[in-house]
Amino acid sequence: MTPIRLALVGLGKIAQAQHLPAIAATAGIEVVAVASRHASLNGVAHFATLEELLERAPDIEAVALCTPPQPRRAQAIAALAAGKHVLLEKPPGATTGELAPMLARAGESGRTLFAIWHSRFAPAVVPARRLLTQHKARAVKITWKEDVRVWHSGQGWIFEPGGLGVFDPGINAFSILTEILPEPVFATGAELSFPANRQAPIAADIELASPSSLPIRAAFDFRQSGEQTWSIEIETDAGVLLLSSGAARLSFAGDLLVDEPEQEYRGIYRRFVELIRAGRSEVDLTPLALVADAFMLGRRHIVEPFDD
Ligand SMILES: NC(=O)c1ccc[n+]([C@@H]2O[C@H](COP(=O)([O-])OP(=O)(O)OC[C@H]3O[C@@H](n4cnc5c(N)ncnc54)[C@H](OP(=O)(O)O)[C@@H]3O)[C@@H](O)[C@H]2O)c1
Repeated sequence: MTPIRLALVGLGKIAQAQHLPAIAATAGIEVVAVASRHASLNGVAHFATLEELLERAPDIEAVALCTPPQPRRAQAIAALAAGKHVLLEKPPGATTGELAPMLARAGESGRTLFAIWHSRFAPAVVPARRLLTQHKARAVKITWKEDVRVWHSGQGWIFEPGGLGVFDPGINAFSILTEILPEPVFATGAELSFPANRQAPIAADIELASPSSLPIRAAFDFRQSGEQTWSIEIETDAGVLLLSSGAARLSFAGDLLVDEPEQEYRGIYRRFVELIRAGRSEVDLTPLALVADAFMLGRRHIVEPFDD
């Protein structure tokens, strides 16, 4: 079968660090074009914008939108209207409402829409989900703390409306949580810290619960220097289940069960090829809805201005 001809849109940090090497390692798909205002790739067709790409490169079959969430809806609709399959980086949109029309458009045009949650492809996720079908969770503590200056330097969009602030990484924890728990969860309260000069929170403490009254607390912070923490600790009836390093590691009742280098994006592109071949879409709004609900319920605190 000939490889799917893909264009990357937005050649920023994640496109370069993860998408390009993962696509190169995946059978059945290849990068043949890039749409980027500032960057290009040797030997690959370059267009300044998605619009230009859609007009001048009609043989492209799929696009991966690696842009920030704010421009993504318009880009996805334009690509679907031009008959392309679309991969959406996380979060799938800047609002929860924009996804249903996008999915409908994909259905009408018989194209695949794949909204990725990369953390769900981390190596410890499937074993953790299996353990939680066997052992009852009693309490959950999420700690997602990183230094925004290290990981998001120069990414002004992250503190703009729709950029999610500290929920940009925090939503990854929600994507894991909602994948491994055997019951749904919902937000019950939030404390949101907004820098005086920014439009999105730099830290957030969120309380969540479940139909079985599982207590869940999440602490997200962008001001973490030194050790960086991306962990989910779940007390169960048989001991503590600990996901750490963003679910690259798993220990249960003191035993280390998983400790693998992550290859999330290889799994993502394998799935994208499968979805396209099968004529299916995959879009799950749940993590984004939890973030939206935290904003709705959140008590707002103004904290010191943040300058990059
Ligand atoms: N960084 C990570 O570790 C990471 C991990 C997983 C997922 N993600 C997600 O991937 C998406 C992109 O993140 P990133 O870290 O790659 O961001 P980034 O480094 O800022 O790159 C985004 C790229 O999108 C393009 N772009 C198009 N329209 C834009 C606009 N209106 N504002 C700003 N940039 C625009 C820019 O590329 P051109 O100049 O080339 O046009 C920019 O380089 C985000 O949704 C993020 O949550 C990021």
